[in-house]
Amino acid sequence: SRHLLSLADASREMLEALLIRAQAFAEGHYDRRALDGIAVCTLFFEPSTRTRLSFQLAAQQLGAHVLNFDASTSSTSKGETALDTLKNIEAMGTRGFIVRHREDGAVAALAAQAREGTCLVNAGDGRSAHPTQGLLDMLSLRQAKGRDFSGLRVAMIGDVKHSRVARSDLQALRTLGMGEIRVCGPASLLPDDGTLDGCTVTQDFDAALDGVDAVMMLRLQRERMEEGLVSSLQDYHRDYGLSAARLKRAAADAVVMHPGPMNRGVEITDEVADGPQSLILTQVANGVAVRMAVLEALLKG
Ligand code: CP
Repeated sequence: SRHLLSLADASREMLEALLIRAQAFAEGHYDRRALDGIAVCTLFFEPSTRTRLSFQLAAQQLGAHVLNFDASTSSTSKGETALDTLKNIEAMGTRGFIVRHREDGAVAALAAQAREGTCLVNAGDGRSAHPTQGLLDMLSLRQAKGRDFSGLRVAMIGDVKHSRVARSDLQALRTLGMGEIRVCGPASLLPDDGTLDGCTVTQDFDAALDGVDAVMMLRLQRERMEEGLVSSLQDYHRDYGLSAARLKRAAADAVVMHPGPMNRGVEITDEVADGPQSLILTQVANGVAVRMAVLEALLKG
C-alpha cells in the first residue's frame, strides 16, 4: 500500500523487512539523498514530542524537505477542516504526510481522499493505531531479546482500553509469533472489543509479571478517560504501578518498555524508568530508525 495506517493487515514478511531496514538505519547505514527533493509534512492535530520530532529527523536524514504543521498555530483555529488543510499542503507539492488526529479512523479518511501519489503515515489516531510505535517497540525487543519471539513471554500492563500503542503492539507481537502475551490492568481499562484475543488476561499484576522477558507499561490516558474509571492515582500506583520490588518477579534479564510520555510515580517509578532494565530511551532512538525505514519504503523511487 502507499499508506501506513495500521499494523492490522501487515504480514510477518513486511514487518520483518521494515525491521531489518530499520536496524541498518540504526547502525548508520543510509543514503542521505534517498528522498532528495521530496517534501513531507508532519500534520499533527494532537500534541506530540517523540513521534513528531523523530519523523522530522528521519525525513531530514534521508534528504527530504520537512514542513511542520501544528494545528494550534494554524488556520485550523479559524475553522479550516483537516481535509482542506491536507489538500492545501498537497497543492504545494508535498508527497508525504505524517498525520496524528484525536478521532479513530481520521487518518484513513484523509488517505481515502488524498491524491494519487500522496502517501500518509498514521502517527496515531484516537485509540485505534500507532503503527510506527508498534514497529519501534518490535525493533527494541529484537535488539534486546533476538529475532525469534516464539520462546518469549511479554506482559503489557495498564490502560489498554484507551491505547493506540497497545493495539499496534499487540497486532505486531501476534504477527511476529510472540510465545505468550499477558495483559493486565483494572477491568475498567481492559477492552472487550477483540483487542485482547489470544492474550492471557489477568487483573493480578504479580501473576502477570511472573518470569516474563519483557514488561510493556502503558500510560494512563486521562485525556481519553471518562470520570471514575480509576479510583485514584494512589490506588492505581499501588495496584498497577511498576516498582523495582515488583519488577523482581519478572526474569532477571527482563526489559522494561514505555512508549512515553510517562506519568512518573503513577504507572512507573523513577527507579524503574531510569534503571538498568529500562529500554525507554532506546525505544526513542529506534523511533528515528523505524521512521526512516517507513518513509523510504513509501516514498523512495
Ligand atoms: N510515544 C508517543 O507517541 O509519544 P508522543 O505522543 O510524544 O509522540
